[in-house]
Amino acid sequence: MDEKSFWHIPVLFHEYIDSLNISSTKRNIVIDCTLWLGGHAVGIIQKLHKGDVFVGFDLDNDNLKSSREIIEKSVGEFAKETGITIHCIHANFRDIRAKLLELGIDSVTAVCYDLWVSSAHFDDADRGFSFRFTGKLDMRFDRENGGKTAHDIINHSSEKELIEMLRTYGEEPKARFIAEAIVRARKVQPLETTEELTKLIEETSYDPKSVVRSFQGIRIAVNDEFGSIETSLKDTINLLSKWGRCSVITFHSLEDRLVKQIFAEYLQAERDEFTGQDTVPAILKKVTKKPLLPTDLEMKQNKRSRSAKLRIVEKK
Ligand SMILES: C[S@@+](CC[C@H](N)C(=O)[O-])C[C@H]1O[C@@H](n2cnc3c(N)ncnc32)[C@H](O)[C@@H]1O
Repeated sequence: MDEKSFWHIPVLFHEYIDSLNISSTKRNIVIDCTLWLGGHAVGIIQKLHKGDVFVGFDLDNDNLKSSREIIEKSVGEFAKETGITIHCIHANFRDIRAKLLELGIDSVTAVCYDLWVSSAHFDDADRGFSFRFTGKLDMRFDRENGGKTAHDIINHSSEKELIEMLRTYGEEPKARFIAEAIVRARKVQPLETTEELTKLIEETSYDPKSVVRSFQGIRIAVNDEFGSIETSLKDTINLLSKWGRCSVITFHSLEDRLVKQIFAEYLQAERDEFTGQDTVPAILKKVTKKPLLPTDLEMKQNKRSRSAKLRIVEKK
């Protein structure tokens, strides 16, 4: 096993892979939207057979390079011998439809998302995701395609926009005070580093949790994480073939709520309010009534799994 994958334990491994309902007789086209270290991807590919296609995405090119290496080392030979096609693509999963069309794919049997940030992001001071280290205010998953950085947002958003961001994406109760402090500080000189921002939040809120929440809010805004999830899930639902599955692991209540709401739109039939008849049938059905959670043993072995939830839906 590779050094990087050694310390990475993919969350809900068996539940996630089994949820994709990979067929041993029919052709599978499986999309893993969040490759990182390919922990789940390797398990998925091992279940595929001749003629199947696996497509993986990652928005972070460094993470994509890691998954490519790990997939090649672990299952590259197996895939070649068996006749499985593998594509690992640097892309935002919000572009799933366009990226698959480029490969000539307009229908898929399973799509999965293991959301939230990889520890590779938090552990690299240079990326500016963590308040534990001093780094530039960046926080972009994708550093190669431009886009706003945390520095741009912190130094150029209006006070109202900052409040909204900290409240909505960080659930920060002291959002107004923090936004005011940011605007006051940047009048003197722009905020440049994670350390400066951390100090300012701590001095304003007197609450270390405000730093965690604010950094989360800024990161979600920088990457438009919720916009990507919404666009992608809606396209995925359209791309799924009959009985195709979509599985999503979330780690945060805000993310889980969003996924639940999007699925809910397709789980209910449209009904005529006068006749009570269904006018448009539901497109999806739930595979499990409640989201799947890690077992006590998994939580003990892998603390990161504690807040994980797996939602699974099937196309009707
Ligand atoms: C929790 S990790 C996935 C771990 C992976 N399942 C494994 O077992 O190794 C999430 C990954 O999703 C990527 N990611 C986040 N947002 C993305 C997006 N909008 N499009 C594509 N990849 C994204 C991150 O860069 C990160 O590598």
